[in-house]
Amino acid sequence: MALPKGRIAQQALALLRRASIAIPESRNDRKLIIDSEDGALQYIMSKPTDVPTFVEHGAADIGVCGLDTLRENGNNVYEPLLLPFGYCRLSVCGMAERPNRPLRYESQPRIATKFPNLALRYFRERNISAEIIPLHGSVELGPLVGLADLIVDLVETGTTLRDNGLVELRTILDIQAVLIVNRAAYRLKSQAVQKLLAAIRKSI
Ligand code: PRP
Repeated sequence: MALPKGRIAQQALALLRRASIAIPESRNDRKLIIDSEDGALQYIMSKPTDVPTFVEHGAADIGVCGLDTLRENGNNVYEPLLLPFGYCRLSVCGMAERPNRPLRYESQPRIATKFPNLALRYFRERNISAEIIPLHGSVELGPLVGLADLIVDLVETGTTLRDNGLVELRTILDIQAVLIVNRAAYRLKSQAVQKLLAAIRKSI
């Protein structure tokens, strides 16, 4: 099972503990492959954006990731179970003083984002020719330093936006964590996968 390090890791680990497929408490935090307490599973601790890659290619049979990563990467995996954490949204945001006019009035806006594919699709679908400026983090800096007119970024509590004088203008996608399964493993290891799914479902 591929698990994301970082924000949703703690909630994912708590869920696995409730499902009795826990990672040992005494684990070495720099170790990247960890056995479950009962030894039945191996956990691959990966960067959140890489989880669907491990699962799609069969390096992991199952994974936990956010819908944001999954939709951005467009991975070909099964998504049998939404998980009750990692709630946030992908939104178009801009400076608070910027008039909130219809997006179609934007002329070639520059959009800073960690989600270039989703951002491009959103603006294309609205016939807006946007210039996408990919960043890897602290995307809110974009409009503050004149790099971008708008950003497409995750909003959870809204604190980062508020603290930087930005506001949410449009929601693109509601996001939460999701359990994903490799397509071949779903059939070939069906019994083990279904058992795991049932344990996790029960613990939700
Ligand atoms: C995410 C996101 C926002 C922030 C939103 O960034 O890109 O910046 O969290 O959360 P909030 O609405 O609760 O303030 P993250 O903390 O993952 O770091 P990054 O900007 O370096 O990617």
